[in-house]
Amino acid sequence: MIIAIDIGTSNTRVATKNEGIIIDEPSVITYDTYTDSIIAVGKDAYKTIGKTPERVKAAFPIADGAVTALELVESMVRIFIGRVGKKKISMPKVITAVPGGITEVEKRAIVNAISSYGVRTVYLIESPKAAAIGAGLDILEGQGKLVADLGGGTADIAVLSLGGVSAGISVKKAGNDMDNNIVKYMKNKYHLSIGKQMAEKCKKSIGTVKMIGPDDTFVMKGRDFTRGLPKAVEVKKSELMPIYRKTMLEIIRGIVDVLENTPPELNGDLIKNGIVFTGGLSQIEGLKELVSDYIRNLKIKIAENPSDCVIKGIIGSAEYIKKVEKKTGHEINPLLAAY
Ligand SMILES: Nc1ncnc2c1ncn2[C@@H]1O[C@H](COP(=O)(O)OP(=O)(O)OP(=O)(O)O)[C@@H](O)[C@H]1O
Ligand SMILES: [Mg+2]
Repeated sequence: MIIAIDIGTSNTRVATKNEGIIIDEPSVITYDTYTDSIIAVGKDAYKTIGKTPERVKAAFPIADGAVTALELVESMVRIFIGRVGKKKISMPKVITAVPGGITEVEKRAIVNAISSYGVRTVYLIESPKAAAIGAGLDILEGQGKLVADLGGGTADIAVLSLGGVSAGISVKKAGNDMDNNIVKYMKNKYHLSIGKQMAEKCKKSIGTVKMIGPDDTFVMKGRDFTRGLPKAVEVKKSELMPIYRKTMLEIIRGIVDVLENTPPELNGDLIKNGIVFTGGLSQIEGLKELVSDYIRNLKIKIAENPSDCVIKGIIGSAEYIKKVEKKTGHEINPLLAAY
């Protein structure tokens, strides 16, 4: 039995080959700070953010793509894996995606978090590779492919060729950075305190990095922090656009950096093949238009169901496990080592 897990900053997804995506829930865990007992994970935990009594803490245990609270990640993963097929599975093998350019210590931390639950072997794949496979790109051929996975905590950008990363960067700014900046803006401009969930809802509703279509509005509900009373403020799409754009421009700068560091032999391929965007944030309005303003002559594609590309790609990479196990040395293999 092989289980695929994508532990994202915002969402964790679990899948198997036969059943497809089984779990797709926020990467949140709530626990009692007095007893250290876990109260809820995923959707159930997300619903209670900001509403819990003081002794209950809600944590997003993966911040900026790095493991910050190892024990909480462990608990979260154990509960999610426990939901897969209940008792049917014994000693599963797990494949998980890790950010590009991850250190050996960070790899260990993730492997430890996963292997706490009777897991036989953990295989790792770098997330841009998984994203590319999930978007239907053949990364084993010698043609360079450019992919950018825009998630909650990171924008993972890479040029892939012959199963490896030829150039890549992990920008530590993505959807969450936009939400945090909106929270700050509402506080400074309107003295309105809003939660991160409200900010995320706003981004999904009227978030744009380049104005297209009508100037829609969104009602932000929160608390007036000078008077402490509930308050609602209507904001316009055009008003918030520069905030979303600022983060996106940093990501675009990352793409330009990667292009500049790509070996010249692969540059021609990239012009031909273009860039493919994956990840939840690639659904933000105006992405294509803004990128083409800054990077001319590059074909831009947003993958179908971009949020699912990484988990689909992890499942797709399962076929390479045998190659790792046989240690067939020189053969191309997108998986990193097994642990
Ligand atoms: N329709 C949408 N418009 C704009 N942003 C969206 C939309 N849908 C999801 N997002 C944003 O995408 C981000 C989550 O994407 P995804 O699920 O790919 O991230 P993740 O895998 O959890 O994070 P990471 O890969 O950075 O660890 C969140 O910031 C979310 O608000
Ligand atoms: Mg992700």
